Formats: sequence, structure tokens, C-alpha cells
Amino acid sequence: MAQNRKKKIGLIGGGQIGGNLALLAIQKQLGDVVLYDIPAAEGMVKGKALDINQLSAVDGYSCRVTGTTDWKDVAGSDVIIITAGVPRKPGMSREDLLDINLKIMKDVAANIKQHAPNAFVINVANPLDAMVFALHKIAELPKNMVAGMAGVLDTSRFKCFVAEELGCSIRDVEALVLGGHGDDMVPLVRHSTVGGVPLTQLIAKDRLDAIIKRTREGGAELVALYKTGSAYFAPAASSIAMAESFLFDRKRVLPAAALLEGQYGINGYFFGAPVQIGAGGVEKVITVELDGDEKAQLEKSFQSVKKTVDSVKL
Ligand code: LMR
Repeated sequence: MAQNRKKKIGLIGGGQIGGNLALLAIQKQLGDVVLYDIPAAEGMVKGKALDINQLSAVDGYSCRVTGTTDWKDVAGSDVIIITAGVPRKPGMSREDLLDINLKIMKDVAANIKQHAPNAFVINVANPLDAMVFALHKIAELPKNMVAGMAGVLDTSRFKCFVAEELGCSIRDVEALVLGGHGDDMVPLVRHSTVGGVPLTQLIAKDRLDAIIKRTREGGAELVALYKTGSAYFAPAASSIAMAESFLFDRKRVLPAAALLEGQYGINGYFFGAPVQIGAGGVEKVITVELDGDEKAQLEKSFQSVKKTVDSVKL
């Protein structure tokens, strides 16, 4: 029966995030995975596929990974996660990657249009909000079938730092980061709680400010540590959370870069907001009520995204 067929997950980019995505998808048994990269990286994708399939035998996973350099193998994917592109190096901003990653995205988006136009497509490549904008336009994907992974990652970092600060279980931290995936992102302190208690009652302002700063610079902190690349474990887990919600119609409410059409006073740009992800892709964009200061912070974040997006030449 069609609804019982194994799902197919296309991973575009066989680097560190791609490898972790493949592993997580198999361990969670989300479906069969196709790990694609360009011919120069054939050994890398074929090697990762073989290695993970051998791991599957240890734990008895039934899903398989195929490493490929042929877009035809990606055809029919239910979900596609794009990590293709160049990571930044210490001292670089995500925006510094615009030209090089846009070139790569143009090719990826054209191939998605040709081979997998019905997939739910999640973009991880940076500068994230601009890349998802270009992807949407070039691949001509319906607005509900394309989103950027960032809010899940940024929110996860925020929650992690809060739990570390308090020495409490991360399971009890509820938080939300809105806005673009840049240094102006907006951790919503007023809306964040631990076990239902507002953060502001638990953490002194100077410590909270430090956590906000660390969250905003969370990607750069890892770039500085890794020196030759950027984060890969948490971005993979964040993308998989979105994919899983789509594949199994979980209808989770997750922050993601979605096309805004008037929400938050923004129209025609992909920007981080809480969205409901289910079998219909981005089924709903949820508007959070903001006070004056939060609105000003969000506007600053939007202006940064807008500047980059407006410079994109398709
Ligand atoms: C991240 O936040 O980890 C990614 O956007 C990668 C980067 O360059 O920071």
C-alpha cells in the first residue's frame, strides 16, 4: 500500500553534516537514504554509505544508504536536505559565503526542480535565509514545501546554555529563537521558561545577556574551535527533527525559516518563525505577540536578512 512504502530521504552534500544526517536517518529508521555529492566527492559518499550500511548490520536497521553522484538516484525523494556548499572559516561571516554558495545552490535547485519537484526541501546552507529564498525561486517549489533549518538549531543552543547555567535538565527548558540565522537573531527571553517558571526569575540579567550573546555567536564559536569547518552534529539533528515531523505528520511546532506573507510585518522573505510542520510541509506560520523591544530586535534581524537577500542575483 502506498502509505506503507518506505520513505526516501535525499541528502544533497556528503560532507560532515551529510554524513551525520545519513547516520541519524538510519538510526531513526526514517527511510532509505540517498547521499548525493558531485563526482569529485564520489569516494566520500560511497564510503560513508558503505560504512553506515555496515553499522546497520550491528544494530539491525532495515533502512539503507546509497552514495551517488547521479541526480537520477535522488528522484522521488520525500524529503531533501541540502547541506551542499562551503562552510565559513574563522573570521568570516555567513554572508561572506553568499557568492560561492549561491552558485552551488543554483545548480542544486535546478536539479531539484527536474528530479524531485514534490519533495519537502530543507536548506542548511549559508547564508541560510538568503539560500532558502534562492532555492524557492529557482526550484519553483510551493511555499509550504521549502524551509530553512536554523531556528531549531539556534533554539537548541539557547536551551543548552540555559540548562548548563542552571544545572537543570534540558528537557524542562522551553525557549524560542526568532529571526534570521545571523548575529541579530532574537532569543525570546520573555517567552522562555524552565519547568514553567520564567527565565527572568531564574537567571540574573547579566548572565542572561551573556547567554543571549553566546547563542547569537553559537555558530562562530564552533567555527573558531573546528578551524576548518562549522558545526555538524546539532545542525544535522535539527534538520532531522524537521524531516521527521514532515514524514510522520507529527505537526510539531518548530522555529524555521519560512516564507512570511505579512506575519511580523514581513512579506516575501524567508525568516525564522515558529511553524507547524506536518504532512503538508509548513502547514502554518505562527505569530508570537511581541513587545516594543522585541519588535525592534526582530526588525534589526530582518534588515540584515533583507540586505543579503536583496543582493541575491538569480
Ligand atoms: C551554525 O550556526 O553552526 C551554522 O550556520 C554554521 C556557521 O557558519 O555558523
